[in-house]
Amino acid sequence: MATQFEIPGKVRLGEGIGGLRRLEITTEHAFAEIYLHGAHVAQFAVRRQTVGSGYEPVLFLSARSHFADGKPIRGGVPVIFPWFGPREGHPEAPMHGFARTRSWELETVTEQPDGAIAVVLRLEPSDATRALWPEPARASHSPEWVLRHRITVGAALTMELEIQNNGPAPLRCEEALHTYFCVSDVRQISVTGLEGAEYLDKADGMRRKRQPLEPIRFTQETDRTYVNTTSHCEIDDPGLNRRILIEKHGSGGTVVWNPWVAKAQAMADFGDDEWPFMVCVETGNMADNALEIAPASAQITKTVIRTVRR
Ligand code: BG6
Repeated sequence: MATQFEIPGKVRLGEGIGGLRRLEITTEHAFAEIYLHGAHVAQFAVRRQTVGSGYEPVLFLSARSHFADGKPIRGGVPVIFPWFGPREGHPEAPMHGFARTRSWELETVTEQPDGAIAVVLRLEPSDATRALWPEPARASHSPEWVLRHRITVGAALTMELEIQNNGPAPLRCEEALHTYFCVSDVRQISVTGLEGAEYLDKADGMRRKRQPLEPIRFTQETDRTYVNTTSHCEIDDPGLNRRILIEKHGSGGTVVWNPWVAKAQAMADFGDDEWPFMVCVETGNMADNALEIAPASAQITKTVIRTVRR
């Protein structure tokens, strides 16, 4: 057990579900669980204002999720890289890339002056990733790319995904912080911030459409990739008497997803009746906003998630 990553009373490194290594973080304001598998924030819950009344989950985590090598966790915040959705021209490739199913290295765990805990995890190419996503061969042995995921647990959940290109050529990729939010009932909430934005409607043959000048409401399966939008979003949830603020930086795309009835039934790792209680609002760069990172430079995609009472 690597105790240098532990902070008594605040950070514990141990075995989570399925025997996967997991950090449990408790601060003055919040509780979080981070799996090294996928650098995956599985839980983030904020302390309730009334003394002794526990935590209020902000993220949705399916009771049917897998917790196993090679399989993504269903809920929390999967890290999507280096492609979003199915890989174009490679039907055999895993959906949403490989970052969410690899075990990441824990680099640092530090306490910030304000009591928040910052965790940095790192993923580098391996034979397994090169088999899926070959990059041009390089003369030196240094990795072609390095991913660093910096997660800060405080009153807000801050996630910064950095992609460093160490290769000799531009690195073309897509990525996302595929956040699953916990909601009272998806049919009663609305999502603002995407009014007037253009989107690809995956639930309607990838047709290109434009969001009317009104919030998104959910009345059926919704699977939309909004493009060329740098706006922050907000989930208004009257049932939980809260708004979730989703701030983003370095991101041109936002994906909004709820599987509804039939898709929920088709997913083995998602309960048939769980769909009303989640919505994904995903910060990233995909489709029209796919990245091309120049040699010797880096891209950072950042999202900050906080809740406020309505
Ligand atoms: C969303 C996609 O981001 O992720 C959906 O837009 C997809 O099309 C969903 O169904 C879940 O993907 P997966 O691979 O985790 O089942």
